[in-house]
Amino acid sequence: MLKISFQEPNSLRNKALAIVVAQKAQSIALGPQAKHVDQTLGGALSLAIKATPSFKAKVGQVLSFPVSERKGPDRVVLVGIGKAEEADALTFEAAGAAAVMAMEKDVEGEGALLVDGAGLKKISGPQAAASAAMGAVLRHYRFDKYHSKEKKETTLIKGLVIGVEEFDTAKALFAPEQKVAQSVCFARDLVTEPANVIDPAAMVQAARKLEKLGVEVTVLGQQQMEKLGMRALLGVAQGSDKPPYLVTMSWRGAPEAKEQKPIAFVGKGVTFDSGGISLKPGAGMGDMKFDMGGAAAVVGAVRALAARKAKTNVVGVIGLVENMPSGKAQRPGDVVKSANGQTIEILNTDAEGRLVLADVLWYAQKEFKPKAIVDLATLTGAMLVALGHKYAGIFSNNDKLAASLEKAGRAVDELVWRFPLDKEYDKMIDSTIADMKNIGEGSKAGSITAAQFLKRFIQKDVAWVHIDIAGTAWREKPTETCSKGATGFGVRLLDRLVHEMGSSS
Ligand code: BES
Ligand code: MN
Ligand code: ZN
Repeated sequence: MLKISFQEPNSLRNKALAIVVAQKAQSIALGPQAKHVDQTLGGALSLAIKATPSFKAKVGQVLSFPVSERKGPDRVVLVGIGKAEEADALTFEAAGAAAVMAMEKDVEGEGALLVDGAGLKKISGPQAAASAAMGAVLRHYRFDKYHSKEKKETTLIKGLVIGVEEFDTAKALFAPEQKVAQSVCFARDLVTEPANVIDPAAMVQAARKLEKLGVEVTVLGQQQMEKLGMRALLGVAQGSDKPPYLVTMSWRGAPEAKEQKPIAFVGKGVTFDSGGISLKPGAGMGDMKFDMGGAAAVVGAVRALAARKAKTNVVGVIGLVENMPSGKAQRPGDVVKSANGQTIEILNTDAEGRLVLADVLWYAQKEFKPKAIVDLATLTGAMLVALGHKYAGIFSNNDKLAASLEKAGRAVDELVWRFPLDKEYDKMIDSTIADMKNIGEGSKAGSITAAQFLKRFIQKDVAWVHIDIAGTAWREKPTETCSKGATGFGVRLLDRLVHEMGSSS
């Protein structure tokens, strides 16, 4: 993790200095701090801006140049934030991320970033600095533990010191955010690790790490799940040599609250999805190591809330299995009974996520009587067809909960788009031989029929939202605040949702 500190703007002494600059009418606005730097550097900033008409200080745009003044930095990086009065937290996240990217390969040790609060309307100076730090930490994350020394990507930069007035306030604002960032990176690590490293048992170990943060972790093994009749989940696991687990992670940050019922987060944790007997095609199958992205997001979110000591009660529940073909594997055409007594005709063993979630959703409701339940799953390829990578699809029986999630998503740039549920879609999963089948009709409305399947396991009075993160858990191209690969999508979203849902956290 990039090391972050905050200081008095005038006390920055680093060799590399990034400076936030804003757009103003036809020109570029140097704030008072930047002007001061410009003076000490003999007008180097103004000159660079004048000599580079393509630099318009757009959000995240950078202009990097060496300077030769003896006192002061060797390199200056101007980082655009667009119009100061329009800049918000996400603007500064993008700016912080752009600053660290511009410096990462050239700055050994620590770089500096000067955040000028001048002209800001939507955000305070210290909050802007904290957001820039958040963006920098998230963008700096890399996973290169399996590269041998020569092949390692050379990111030299180790720390960022942020110069801002009221730096103490910035530091206090960033402290909880840093816990969230660490948890995002924790989730990204889990998703990136290959399936021979992160198997169901390894996910249990990852969840157990939360115990030292005060989270109560319980683990159900195969026998206990057999006793509970979780044949939907166990049917998926039966083709694999790796035993399945169900893990609960309970954070009680509001033990005195009147409302003791927790919010439940439920995650799909298929540590590898080969498709089972309905085997997937070979091309791209390796991607299916990320099919535990929902579970990783749940572990990450509970970790974030516990680490920042959020005054709220939440429980994370994850179902961990590997979906493999073998002589023991379940077959297309098999009928299984879920823990709540419904029968399911398995017509495609690759539609396994909903089978796992069926029993986990039931267990979460029975065991914790949650006031709301949010599940996350890399559930359907159809989600990628519908929304690509930017938005996750959500499906809900509760307008208020869905709206809170949409709002939370906008605040942290983990966007969600609501899809419909309807009894006509529900009919599409009726089976001739059992209560339901695990696929719909052809490829029609594939993400919705999957959600309708889950809905059959939600009790009437429970507010529920399902998030299909098939497109957002993993990205082939970097984004503003994420290098390519695992995104950790869901950690910030859930953390923010808790905040949105009105507790003092
Ligand atoms: N894990 C996949 C969904 C998926 C596919 C996520 C591609 C991300 C990228 C899921 O288990 C699956 O295989 N779903 C099937 C369902 C179908 C058989 C009804 C799918 O989407 O093809
Ligand atoms: Mn599958
Ligand atoms: Zn899957």
